[in-house]
Amino acid sequence: KKAKIAVIGSASMDLVVSSQKRPQAGETVLGDSFKTIPGGKGANQAVAAARLGADVFMIGRVGDDSYGTNILENFKRNRVSTDYVEPVTGVETGTAHIILAEGDNSIVVVKGANEYVTPAYVEKAVPLISTCDLVMIQQEVPEETVEYVASICKELGIPLLLNPAPARELSERVLEQATYITPNEHESEILFDGLPVSEALKRFPNKLILTEGAKGVRYFNGESEILVPAFPVKVVDTTGAGDTFNGAFGTAIAEGKRMEESLQFANLAASISVTGLGAQSGIPMRAEVERRLAE
Ligand code: RIB
Ligand code: NA
Repeated sequence: KKAKIAVIGSASMDLVVSSQKRPQAGETVLGDSFKTIPGGKGANQAVAAARLGADVFMIGRVGDDSYGTNILENFKRNRVSTDYVEPVTGVETGTAHIILAEGDNSIVVVKGANEYVTPAYVEKAVPLISTCDLVMIQQEVPEETVEYVASICKELGIPLLLNPAPARELSERVLEQATYITPNEHESEILFDGLPVSEALKRFPNKLILTEGAKGVRYFNGESEILVPAFPVKVVDTTGAGDTFNGAFGTAIAEGKRMEESLQFANLAASISVTGLGAQSGIPMRAEVERRLAE
């Protein structure tokens, strides 16, 4: 049975420049290419979940500009429902200004319409949310929205996958209320104030999943720490790898798959995603992941 997932989060336009060199403050360099690509952590996770086999409902906002129109079309192409993506009048779509240089990315995010994903806005979607197998959220929407969503999910008994990216502190209450929390190493330092990783994992068995890029992911199963290794690939662009991981993990877990199997599925999907330029272009379809898992 298909999993039904609501993704509450950002939808942005990524303005991606590839360059040999990253400019220093005050410096100008010549770049190699420029591309405009749909992104935003919420949208990327929604597209990933849809390609990987879930019925996905995006709850987000765009501006009333051409980026917003492109983003809505992109959701439709990827079979993500936009019933709960309402343009904000007179506000620009969120943008991410990305430089790919020297083998890594650096990103400036301008929130734009994503600021309007407020608790009051999400409240209108509660009837939908209450019918979902899983809710997913990230931190490119206001902090109050994350708090609101964590408490309604708890109240409704709907599992919540919280991807605490980009890094921001979280209240103890949200940490308790979320079902799964997926920081990378940097986000985990901020969340747990530098607490050693193994101790943080032990505090939240089968909930806290630490992503460590090319190494894989780590969690504590109640008895011991488990490392689920990543798959080696040739990296083109790591932008959106974390989002693909979350979309895939959410889909598998919402289908009732077990933790370790869901994490393997998600690792493979994320590994494949880094072989394509742009946050979404490398996200594989379900059939491809299943074929490669069977190899
Ligand atoms: O996680 C990757 C995303 O983060 C990009 O698509 C960009 O929008 C940034 O916000
Ligand atoms: Na990619």
